[in-house]
Amino acid sequence: MRITVVTGAGMSAESGIPTFRDAPAGLWARFDPQRLATPEAFEEDPALVWGWYRWRAALVLRARPNPGHLGLARLEDDGHDVTVATQNVDALHERAGSGRLLHLHGSLFASRCSQCAAAPAFEPLREYLEAVPAEGAREEPPTCSACGGRLRPGVVWFGEGLPEGPWRQAQEAVADCDLLLVIGTSNLVYPAAALPLAALEAGTPVLEINPQPTALSAHANASWRLPASEGVERLATRLHQSAGTENLLLPGKWKCRARG
Ligand code: OAD
Repeated sequence: MRITVVTGAGMSAESGIPTFRDAPAGLWARFDPQRLATPEAFEEDPALVWGWYRWRAALVLRARPNPGHLGLARLEDDGHDVTVATQNVDALHERAGSGRLLHLHGSLFASRCSQCAAAPAFEPLREYLEAVPAEGAREEPPTCSACGGRLRPGVVWFGEGLPEGPWRQAQEAVADCDLLLVIGTSNLVYPAAALPLAALEAGTPVLEINPQPTALSAHANASWRLPASEGVERLATRLHQSAGTENLLLPGKWKCRARG
């Protein structure tokens, strides 16, 4: 089966990585995105921004892929044609072994020069630190060996466009799939949030896995109120039981199997 998966911060919650909008631990409940995640913020206070991403990178380097990440990677071993389009920048999908992966919001581990866009020879944010830096610790960004400009994290900030290639490929993967899975995203941030809507418009079944209702829940063919690990496990079991049967894909079937 051709399965496209859109993932968000909730996919990594069971790895101990905070989401953005879940109170009280969500990052945007504790930090102001305008001061940390915009090109203007970096211009104004590069050490504050770099230090914050250094803190996040240190957390992520200590985290491990959870059973949800691993279960998605295993769907490929089961013979499914899986594309994961992730909003996450933590590299846990690749560490879990997912093969076809599209980074819609970039990666923590793809720093580049803010002036000439050159990639550094060694990724500075991948450097493992003995201790996790303090949350608000400032750190001057390293400079580019080509032009002397400041390095910036390779993530997409508010006000910036998505990387063209991954975005186009994600749209194609949504257009070409038999099932769209949407895991661990509030589905509030566009354009990524448009992907499930495109699938619904095309008549492709959409299955959401999220312990909380979201903007998408009322429209999805099924919405499983489960954490990612349990949702992916349940899906794998059901695909094993009825792999290849057209019935599995009937929206009505999904609905009545999922609810109740
Ligand atoms: P949000 O923090 O907006 O949403 C996280 C979602 O994960 C919520 O709907 C939670 O209910 C759900 N969730 C929590 N624990 C879960 C679990 N164990 N299993 C499954 N789901 C769980 O995060 P995103 O939707 O990813 O962008 O946010 C989208 C974008 O907004 C991010 O990529 C980031 C942020 O600003 C940029 O930084 C550009």
